[in-house]
This record gives sequence, structure tokens and C-alpha cells, in this order.
Amino acid sequence: MLEVSHLSKRFSDKYAVKNVSFQVNQGDSFGLLGPNGAGKSTTISMVTGLLSPDEGEVTMHGKTMRKHPKFLKQRIGLVPQTIALYDTLTARENLEFWGTVYGITGSKLKDNVNWCLRVAGLEDNTKQLVKKYSGGMQRRLNIAVGMIHRPEVLIMDEPTVGIDPQSRNHILQTVKDLNKQGITVIYTSHYMEEVQFLCERLAIMDHGQVIAYGSLNDVRQLAGTLATITIEAQGDLDSILKELQQDLSLKNLQNRDGALVLQSTNAAAAVSKVVLAMSQHGLQPANINVEEPNLEAAFLHLTGRQLRDGGEGAV
Ligand SMILES: Nc1ncnc2c1ncn2[C@@H]1O[C@H](COP(=O)(O)OP(=O)(O)O)[C@@H](O)[C@H]1O
Ligand SMILES: [Mg+2]
Repeated sequence: MLEVSHLSKRFSDKYAVKNVSFQVNQGDSFGLLGPNGAGKSTTISMVTGLLSPDEGEVTMHGKTMRKHPKFLKQRIGLVPQTIALYDTLTARENLEFWGTVYGITGSKLKDNVNWCLRVAGLEDNTKQLVKKYSGGMQRRLNIAVGMIHRPEVLIMDEPTVGIDPQSRNHILQTVKDLNKQGITVIYTSHYMEEVQFLCERLAIMDHGQVIAYGSLNDVRQLAGTLATITIEAQGDLDSILKELQQDLSLKNLQNRDGALVLQSTNAAAAVSKVVLAMSQHGLQPANINVEEPNLEAAFLHLTGRQLRDGGEGAV
């Protein structure tokens, strides 16, 4: 649906983005993860048509940003990294203003404004001036403004930076709900937990380039780390240990104080195999815990650095 192919951008002679390609499918929740300075915002600026690439192309439904900027911009919503609101206006006035910028008027404008206020959880604060808002409320309104034209794709650039944990959770849940409603999401962050929570597919950027791309599971497993699975059960676990050891996909099997502990590259398949074996031996699985390899480990493996340490100008 949205295709980014071989995008590059230089500032003076330094590449901010170099040969970046990825594809976002309809209904995706796609993550763009990388430390500060990785080139995420520059990429987003090109995808939204705010910045023209030196090389490469952005295509949506077969039409390019270069030739059909209006077509793409109508279908893409941007929530910028820095808050872009008029703080002497109310939430409703801000939304109405941005709606008219998109050429939306009359009852459609009213409907869209009400929808945005509801989604952002700001229905009770519509008459308050934005400058009286907390940081978290401003962030939420900033997101609402990005959706005023009801875009197919919502692109969010680090929407949780600098806000309290409660507002952060609200935003993450809002993004998840929007995606469930069918809105395609591109979510940029340097927090791997957020991308892990929200995204099924992602690209990891570092120094302007994509260094990993694919499904969350594929990328997580780049470090070669295995998921660790713990299954507690009543009964004689040793009786099935030998049988399960025959299966080479189940690694490092142990009976640890009434719990079967093992590792696997495919946690879901491993759990179902073990649970099946248990039920065949009359054992009742009680508690199942899966610890997947994480994106932090993948980033460390790929770059030799910690993601949370950030890059240039890390916060
Ligand atoms: N307008 C600009 N002029 C010069 N350099 C820039 C400009 N915008 C970004 N850069 C540089 O490009 C690189 C990528 O920046 P950016 O896309 O903002 O990264 P991120 O969003 O991942 O933190 C950084 O080294 C940054 O300093
Ligand atoms: Mg940025």
C-alpha cells in the first residue's frame, strides 16, 4: 500500500538518510525504531512530502509523491515530533483550523472534529485553551490534529517523548485502538518497548540506514537468542522430559522445581508441543510464561551498541 524505495537525503555532504526502503501494508502497525540521529524524522519528512528526497521514491496505491503529492497527502496524517498547536485556541478551534486547511467544511468538519476529540480522550476539555493543557493532553491533541482529515495512514514521530507514564500509556493504547479500527500506523520511536508493544512489522535504522527489517519475531531473533519458556505443572515431569528431548526444536530442557523450562526459536510451537505431551501423560499445565528475545538484544547484536544509549545527541 505504501512503499518507500531507496530514499536518500544529504544535508551538505552528509547523508541523513541513505538508501532506505520498506513497505507498509494496509492495516499494518509498522515501527521505525532507532536511536536519536538515526534518520527517522528525515525519513518521515520525505514520506509525508515535507522534504523532497535526493534519491528514491515514495509510492502509495501505485502513485508517487513526486507526481501526485495531493493524492498522497490526503491519505497520510502526520503527528510531528514537536508539538504544532495554537496555544491561544481551544482544542476544538485547533482541530477546526487544521480541518479547513485540508479543505474540510460543514457537517463533515464537525463530525471529524468530534471523532478526533473522542479518540484523543479530550471531549471534556474542548473549551479550555491549549496553553492550560498538561503536556500529555497537548500530545493527545497533537495526535488528534494529525487525524483531522481521517487519513488511511497515520505517521507518528516519537509521540511519547517527554511525557508522564500515564499519558504515555494512554497514547500507546490509543494507537493500538486506532490500528484495530483499521487505520494503518507508522510509529517512530527510540523506545524498543513501545515498538514491541505496538508493531507487528518494523525497520531498525542506524546512521541513516535500515539495518534490520521484517516481522517483530524475525527481527527479534536476529541476535540468535531463543525464547525461554517456563511451564509449571502438577505431576511427574521427568516422565515426559525424555520424550520431549527427542524433539530438536526444544532446547535446553530441564525440570526445575515443578516447572519445565526450555528454549526455542518458535515459542508458540514449542508451547503447544509441550502442552500436548503433558496432556497425553495426564499432566495439567498450570502456568505458562514465555520470555521472547527482545529488540534491544537484536540492536546490540547488529551494532555493538545499546539502543537505549542512543546515538548522537541522545537524551
Ligand atoms: N535540517 C537539517 N540540516 C542538517 N542536518 C540535519 C537536518 N535534519 C537532520 N539532520 C541530521 O540528520 C541526521 C538524522 O536526523 P533525524 O532524521 O532527525 O534523526 P532521528 O529522527 O532518528 O533522531 C542527524 O545527524 C541530524 O543531525
Ligand atoms: Mg526524530
